[in-house]
Amino acid sequence: MSILITGGAGFIGSHTCVELLESGYDCVVIDNLSNSSEEAVRRVEKITGKTVKFYEADVRDKKALHKIFEDNSIEAVIHFAGYKAVGESVEKPLMYYENNLTNTLVLLEIMKGFDVKRIVFSSSATVYGSDNKAPLNETMPVSAINPYGRTKLFIEEILKDVYSSDNSWSVALLRYFNPVGAHKSGLIGEAPKGIPNNLMPYISQVAVGKRTHLNVFGNDYKTADGTGSRDYIHVVDLAKGHVKAIEWVLSTAGCEAFNLGTGKGTTVLELRRAFVDATGVEVPFKIAPRRAGDCDEVYASADKAKKELNWSAELGIEDMCKDTWNWQKNNPEGYDK
Ligand code: NAD
Ligand code: UFG
Repeated sequence: MSILITGGAGFIGSHTCVELLESGYDCVVIDNLSNSSEEAVRRVEKITGKTVKFYEADVRDKKALHKIFEDNSIEAVIHFAGYKAVGESVEKPLMYYENNLTNTLVLLEIMKGFDVKRIVFSSSATVYGSDNKAPLNETMPVSAINPYGRTKLFIEEILKDVYSSDNSWSVALLRYFNPVGAHKSGLIGEAPKGIPNNLMPYISQVAVGKRTHLNVFGNDYKTADGTGSRDYIHVVDLAKGHVKAIEWVLSTAGCEAFNLGTGKGTTVLELRRAFVDATGVEVPFKIAPRRAGDCDEVYASADKAKKELNWSAELGIEDMCKDTWNWQKNNPEGYDK
């Protein structure tokens, strides 16, 4: 049974391929490598001892996608492919709408044509906007505060409409909190291009000597130590959540959103401390002004995924830090060696 993974060479996609292969699924990956490297796919094969069928192509390319569905017996799709940088989406909204929305529309059209009606979509906690109070649960109102978030919101709505038009579809909208960490082999991990926007890759680049210090964006938030608090989730736990979501879409019809988070918040300074303690490597920091658009505290209610997908996160902050470091120190330039 083959699962098509769009964006499968990326950070979360590559980890998900490992868990799918280890659970007995065959993986077909389409990725245009706009933010990744084919080497990640080769390393997935190395970790698992299994083969991934890889297509270097764009999901917007109807012909290429059609051929993939023609050549393989696809049972379900996990749709990761898209752009994901919030700041860039503010500067280049059309690029974000064009890629994230168009690729989803093309994918859904081809899926419909081949009567493949099971899809797991990479959504984000960003759809909770800034007005809800943590713990965030799936019944709360959704909104968006930037173009990236709006693409996630729009795609969720598109998928809900597709399901409403034909109740034989099965759609899992996975709202990720803050994915961090790496596979314990140290062979695959997050390889951001340029200066990282996110906290954990920034910390690990300071630790490896690529950056001088961490800028802590604000220490006057309403949290235990004044720095922003987020729900960090180990990417391997997240990947396992996708296997559970695949089982769910293969066994039910429906359209449901599920939070994938741990249910716990960790502040910037707590994460920095945990990283230093777990690795023994110093991470100098300076308090800097707040970053526009950030809020005090974001964490999930993880109850629905536990109840309906039989999934919950197992790895803690120490594992997240150790595994991030193991990846970073062995691959200081990511996959470019
Ligand atoms: P990533 O950039 O590492 O992976 C996305 C992959 O999609 C990349 O390999 C890229 O080359 C590919 N891609 C982009 N557009 C494509 C297209 N048109 N055709 C084919 N391939 C294309 O990102 P990630 O962190 O693995 O995120 C995966 C998904 O999860 C994204 O949709 C992202 O928005 C979502 N998400 C990520 C986070 C996070 O913090 N990492 C949080 C919430 C949601
Ligand atoms: N932070 C710093 N210094 C840095 C980077 C981040 O202090 O160099 C702080 C931020 O201010 C925030 C926390 O670390 O308090 C986490 O920031 P990230 O950028 O790692 O994560 P965010 O929660 O801001 O954003 C993430 C994803 C977005 C998604 C959002 C909503 O990156 O794509 O979660 O769930 F939209």
